[in-house]
Amino acid sequence: MKTKYFTISSGESAQQVLQEAAELLKQGRLVAFPTETVYGLGANGLDAEAVAKIYQAKGRPSDNPLILHIAHERELKQLVTEIPANAQALIDKYWPGPLTVVLKRTTIVPDIVSGGLDTVAVRLPASKIARELIILAGVPIAAPSANTSGRPSPTSAQAVFADLDGRIDAVVDAGDCAIGVESTVVDCTTPVPTLLRPGGITLEMLMETLGEVEIDPALGGGAGYIPRAPGMKYTHYAPLAPMVLFEGEYPKIADLIVQETRTALAAGKKVGAIVSKETAERLSSEVVSVVYGSREQVGQFAANLYTALRSYDENPVEIIFAEGIPEDGLGLAVMNRLRKASSYQIVKATEKNK
Ligand code: TXA
Ligand code: MG
Repeated sequence: MKTKYFTISSGESAQQVLQEAAELLKQGRLVAFPTETVYGLGANGLDAEAVAKIYQAKGRPSDNPLILHIAHERELKQLVTEIPANAQALIDKYWPGPLTVVLKRTTIVPDIVSGGLDTVAVRLPASKIARELIILAGVPIAAPSANTSGRPSPTSAQAVFADLDGRIDAVVDAGDCAIGVESTVVDCTTPVPTLLRPGGITLEMLMETLGEVEIDPALGGGAGYIPRAPGMKYTHYAPLAPMVLFEGEYPKIADLIVQETRTALAAGKKVGAIVSKETAERLSSEVVSVVYGSREQVGQFAANLYTALRSYDENPVEIIFAEGIPEDGLGLAVMNRLRKASSYQIVKATEKNK
């Protein structure tokens, strides 16, 4: 299959391009498009056959359900049996935006969208381009992140191409995604809403609206817990080399990274590092270091995370050392992704190993 490439530059061409892309969606084809979080791989969310193609293109396990994207809040009613007050409060506050709510589904939602669950995940993105595309297609759009299953999510059209060229019908390129990590997934079918995946709407923001929030125990990553967002149990976001994550106080973790990179270089290894600007300045020039933010501006870490994880595709290394950040704000989502990307190879900086 030849993958069509659409670019959006001016407002006028945007309308034309989106019209063409929407036509493809109406025909049951796959179109990758930008949102404020990451690029999504879209298909008509009410057409089971079209949705099946998403799983195929991504190599995604069939028990991992998809998010339905809508363009207006009123489109939610047809998809869910009820909207509890706490879900409504979240919607009022954070839609459009990087918030996905999980609610009981109606029968118009195909089984394949929900991976066999009796619930459905729905989101109303803030991205104007995403919303315009959904409006023109005239149906809810099922869209997981537009990466090959297991790989870091794409925050640029180039990253989508790297994974899915030849496997999907089109990509709409509108530049880099602003937030850089996926939406926050909240299960609103429990008496107290449950955070299933940290994301663009922070835990602090959820608390502000809800007062209390349960946290899916599986987010701790401990053994024995089965995540309730099925997608959270698979290997994810992995770069193409083993990665070790350093967690704990700064600059203690920077000291450890400096030490470990030296040891690995001395052993003749090609070494990568995904670190802050501050730590990068302390590393040998032999280390292939990728700066993903500054300790002084945490939002940057989210925006650059997936590009950093993908940067070793072109320039392979044998081991990657990654620097953890504080878990407040977007830091919680960043650390959740880094832990998974490292397959839980984590070094905690303590007094002992200082
Ligand atoms: O920001 C985002 O959410 C992006 C953009 C494209 O909108 N989409 C995205 O989709 O990240 P995906 O498929 O990569 O991740 C969806 C997550 C998975 O962890 C999945 O298991 C969970 O949401 N999920 C979907 N439906 C669910 C349901 N009914 N119950 C529990 N978890 C669900
Ligand atoms: Mg994904």
